[in-house]
Amino acid sequence: MKTVKKAIIPAAGLGTRFLPATKAMPKEMLPIVDKPTIQYIVEEAIESGIEDIIIVTGKGKRAIEDHFDNNFELEDNLVKKEKFELLEKVKQPSKVDIHYIRQKEPKGLGHAVWCARKFIGDEPFAVLLGDDIVQAEKPCLKQLMDQFDETQSSVIGVQQVPDEETHRYGIIDPLTIEGRRYQVSNFVEKPEQGTAPSNLAIMGRYILTPEIFGFLDRQETGAGGEIQLTDAIQKLNEIQNVYAYDFEGKRYDVGEKLGFVKTTVDMALENEEIKEELYKYLAKKIKEQKMTV
Ligand code: G1P
Repeated sequence: MKTVKKAIIPAAGLGTRFLPATKAMPKEMLPIVDKPTIQYIVEEAIESGIEDIIIVTGKGKRAIEDHFDNNFELEDNLVKKEKFELLEKVKQPSKVDIHYIRQKEPKGLGHAVWCARKFIGDEPFAVLLGDDIVQAEKPCLKQLMDQFDETQSSVIGVQQVPDEETHRYGIIDPLTIEGRRYQVSNFVEKPEQGTAPSNLAIMGRYILTPEIFGFLDRQETGAGGEIQLTDAIQKLNEIQNVYAYDFEGKRYDVGEKLGFVKTTVDMALENEEIKEELYKYLAKKIKEQKMTV
């Protein structure tokens, strides 16, 4: 029986939605309260039992490598000041090895995944997208890995979105359902408004078999002129089962401004250090707002 041990995190995007913040800083390093978004993703992979992560980076992404490295000067300073709680926060995860590869041209998500093919070899693997953070009792990726253990087939994480948002996502055309798992007849990347086959959207978590690389090798472009992972998944689905799994948990979209701010507020309201004061502040703001409306 095969198991999933390796994960790819594509992090080569330009982050144009967050300019000017992302002019000199990778969007993956933007913090939600006090942790960069990519750290939430790495922690989910570790909690799911992943042993090796490869981050696909691009130009100007050096800060990501520095973040997941030891910083002896800082650690030494914290030891001397006896700030042990902070020391724990900056220490690097020891349960996983993190590797890096560069995507030399921005040719799309499918191409970014293809860049990691030599690292993956002939094994099933996970892909986690940094724009989606999921809070769940059982980590989202672990839910998909359990499905893989059962089916030995590719599994794609999906959740429902409102009809008017389907054009922003990869959408599945479901055939049959068993529990939360769907058999799929078609995977469509960003269908035009009003043409989506369902409102079950791909949410940035994938378990894929290595046969996907045979399709990515073809470098065919799709929606937006990019090499789309969803298109290769559809081709894979024609030769072997690719399931969709409606995972449990709350998904946050940190890839766009409003989603990012909402995530920040939600996570801050769960943070012991600041939640009480923040709640009071927000309550005051809402009261003021009501007075002026
Ligand atoms: C990517 C995928 C899309 C998926 C989405 C999830 O799109 O191509 O299938 O639904 O992530 O966030 P992007 O948002 O990078 O354009």
